[in-house]
Amino acid sequence: MEKRRSWAEPFRIKVVEPIRMTTAEERERAIAEAGYNSFLLRSEDVYIDLLTDSGTSAMSDHQWAALMVGDEAYAGSRSFYRLVEAVEEVYGYQELVPTHQGRGAEHILSQILIEPGDVIPGNMYFTTTRFHQEYAGGRFVDVIVDEAHDPSSLYPFKGNFDLDKLQAVIDEHGAARIPYISFETNVNMAGGQPASMANLRATYELCRQHDILMILDATRALENAYYIQQREEGYADRSIAEILREICSYSDGATVSSKKDNLVNIGGFLALRDLDLATRARNLLVAFEGLQTYGGMSGRDMEALATGIREMVSTDDHVRARVGQVEYLGDLLIEAGIPVVRPIGGHGVFLDARAILPHLTQDLFPAQALTAALYVDGGVRGMERGIVSAGRDHETGEHHYPKLELVRLAIPRRVYTQAHMDVVAESIITVHEQRDRIGGLRFTYEPDELRFFQARFEPIPT
Ligand code: F0G
Repeated sequence: MEKRRSWAEPFRIKVVEPIRMTTAEERERAIAEAGYNSFLLRSEDVYIDLLTDSGTSAMSDHQWAALMVGDEAYAGSRSFYRLVEAVEEVYGYQELVPTHQGRGAEHILSQILIEPGDVIPGNMYFTTTRFHQEYAGGRFVDVIVDEAHDPSSLYPFKGNFDLDKLQAVIDEHGAARIPYISFETNVNMAGGQPASMANLRATYELCRQHDILMILDATRALENAYYIQQREEGYADRSIAEILREICSYSDGATVSSKKDNLVNIGGFLALRDLDLATRARNLLVAFEGLQTYGGMSGRDMEALATGIREMVSTDDHVRARVGQVEYLGDLLIEAGIPVVRPIGGHGVFLDARAILPHLTQDLFPAQALTAALYVDGGVRGMERGIVSAGRDHETGEHHYPKLELVRLAIPRRVYTQAHMDVVAESIITVHEQRDRIGGLRFTYEPDELRFFQARFEPIPT
């Protein structure tokens, strides 16, 4: 039998940030003060912070050094041109529109392309993406494959577009009412699930036949590239850098939140091929974000971002270790019999709150309640990704009832160790053993838009 050989991270730690352990009593008080919403906790009260993988990465020594050489010129910053080169080299898009983060790019894109009454098909919604599509007068239509809605399905490409569903939307509304399709790589809300290259290619071909633009949400395209390398025939010997370029080749542009794959704490961009479209985007950019050569970023932000973009593809070991750590945590939970979304996704482990808390109906917010219980047990902060995140239908005022009712434990890049993952797994296993004690929640404050960020709850007395 072949001897098992462990692998480890392709970096060592040069700077550390102390974190504080709290008592269960302190945590009970903190979560009550936060209205049982993990977004409203203070980070000081959190031990292991898995709220998000967004903007929480550890930068490399090269990135920190790059901050120092950032060019803070208002116009024509050298750092902007470095960023343009990095995006062109790594993603293959010529026209770069820099923004403060992903939603800035989504806003600009939605405003230049969407007319009231338009329909935007996509592979599962993302909260801010759908918000901006609706804000521009459009309507999002989900055309992801059915497997994506089933946490236990082991289908390897649960992020795929269902082309029959897409064709049906085109037949119903007509291509003229579809300004673009929104194709997310490594679909966040589905649990970090990839699309296959074959599906990206086929979707792009269908779009071209109908003269519809295909825009990627390439926020986690690197992690998607890794899955294509691991799972899709013909890609095992291709580098991550090559696969990423091919992914982007099947699109007319992309929005990117650089706070994920790109290894920076703030930043993002809209990238396009067409100069006319980019010009329209730049005209709005100067009103909403900043001048076309900085958008929403400082010169040093752009410098660290350009370095991060190159670094993420400079060796395949980076993404292997990143996804490998997520899989390590996922496998511990699977071994312990905890219901999680499978296969384990690229940026986090997603607990299936519907399966863990069958005694709570969805309108009692099981994933929100489970997130709070996890925090109280061990100081681990996750995020609700279920009915609260899905919000209400604007026309009927009813909750959207998503099939997936999940707690997301998103793993920041290059931040936590394997021992942290062990502690997280132990806490989840403990909470799972005591799951019968977890009761439902009700709103005490419900914001109109993107309610999950600021909503407050209280336990329903039993
Ligand atoms: N698209 C995807 C797929 C995202 O995951 C996010 C952010 C955005 C767009 C928006 O980008 O935050 O830079 O404005 N996701 C974060 C998360 C918030 O925690 O998943 P942003």
